[in-house]
Amino acid sequence: MYIIFLGAPGAGKGTQAAYVAQKLNLFHLAVGDLLRKEIERGTELGMKTKSYMGKGELVPDSVVIPMVLQHVSAPEGELGVILDGFPRNLKQAETLDQALDQQDKAIDKVVYISVSEEELIRRLSGRRICRSCQAPYHMASFPPQVEDSCDKCGSELYQRPDDIAEAVKKRLEVYSAETAPLIDYYSRAGKLLTIDGEGDVGEVGERIIAALCGENL
Ligand code: AP5
Repeated sequence: MYIIFLGAPGAGKGTQAAYVAQKLNLFHLAVGDLLRKEIERGTELGMKTKSYMGKGELVPDSVVIPMVLQHVSAPEGELGVILDGFPRNLKQAETLDQALDQQDKAIDKVVYISVSEEELIRRLSGRRICRSCQAPYHMASFPPQVEDSCDKCGSELYQRPDDIAEAVKKRLEVYSAETAPLIDYYSRAGKLLTIDGEGDVGEVGERIIAALCGENL
């Protein structure tokens, strides 16, 4: 089973992919996290990636597509894969379809998480992440118990460079121009499930699970 989680930056793709993957025993393939790990490790791929991510631009297809295709068929995904953050443009969507087709596989459903722009900006501007375990916090709606310190492991919290206002603006522009057309692409293919992404994390997660289970996948 292959499920794509689609939505604007801050829509909750990562949060919901983790929630649904845990409940349905699926493999969560988070492309932004993979890229950040490459940067952290200082690999060649990370070096190629860093400046694009920092500015809120898409990393070139020539870098991202081979990396994702390599992970899509990993053994961890035997029971099914949630693709979080891929595809983000038409070229990536078509390449993914072709690669799966060659293995007699296909995308089953695309969960489009819809959130107002005002809420996206509120979520991104207040987000903080643990440097060590990557646990997410929000300064207003989910603050840590001790300021700037992770509740789980005590490490320092930081703000992602692409969560500063200028980069958020760019990410939202890139999303509208390059990624939003995929809503129509998957709707025409009869694969789109639109989910209201506002409300409690668990509430949104259960909406997604109910929609997927209603499809009898
Ligand atoms: P990536 O890391 O994937 O960032 P993004 O798509 O911009 O998504 P975010 O992680 O910001 O948001 P999200 O929708 O996952 O929401 P989250 O659950 O985190 O990609 C970063 C960069 O990598 C891209 O800009 C690009 O440069 C590059 N890249 C990645 N994939 C690529 C590709 N395929 N091609 C080319 N380049 C690529 O939640 C956000 C916040 O909201 C958190 O604080 C969370 O706690 C909070 N929150 C979540 N749900 C709720 C809720 N229901 N109520 C209140 N708060 C909530």
